[in-house]
Amino acid sequence: MRVGVLISGTGSNLQALIDDSGIDVACVVSSRKGAAGIERARAAAIDALVSSDEDETARFLDDHEVGLVVLAGYMRVLSPAFVHRYSGRILNLHPSLLPAFPGTHAVRDAVDHGVRVTGVTVHLIDDDHVAVDSGPIVLQEALEVSYDERPEDVAERLHEIEHRLLPRAVHLFCAGRLEVSGRRVRVKDETLA
Ligand code: GRF
Repeated sequence: MRVGVLISGTGSNLQALIDDSGIDVACVVSSRKGAAGIERARAAAIDALVSSDEDETARFLDDHEVGLVVLAGYMRVLSPAFVHRYSGRILNLHPSLLPAFPGTHAVRDAVDHGVRVTGVTVHLIDDDHVAVDSGPIVLQEALEVSYDERPEDVAERLHEIEHRLLPRAVHLFCAGRLEVSGRRVRVKDETLA
């Protein structure tokens, strides 16, 4: 299955997908000009577009016959029309254990709140798209936070988890191993890698 990746920044998670030989990253869209992630796409000879226009983004994804859209540090909120177009086929990565700490400052919010455990969530964007960072949860992994850690330290350790968790979720999706029932996602043959 061909995968389209939407980014806005550094693109280290995009890199993790590119580096996974089992994942076919067909194209990359960056909502920001100058995002480092674009260079990563170019270095891997992957078609890249800079656009914050949804119609243009959708046309580019469709031209590349993408079966799955991955939001990897994409800082824009998608419209219901876009979500509908790729219904059930959009994965989002978020640096907290949702539903705790949605939004753009998840790591800082969690540390400021004094949590002892935070983590990473990969979830599907639901059709209703009722709230930011909602939608059926595919994978989560927890991380303990110590008192002395600054948000940037926690973010760095969360990134290591993200680089493992996101490719795994993409594999599961592409292999048809995710069974969604309402808010709940069953991973078929969970004991397999
Ligand atoms: C990640 O922490 C992701 O969870 C968040 O934005 C960050 C993107 O990092 N939504 P990168 O651009 O993949 O390095």
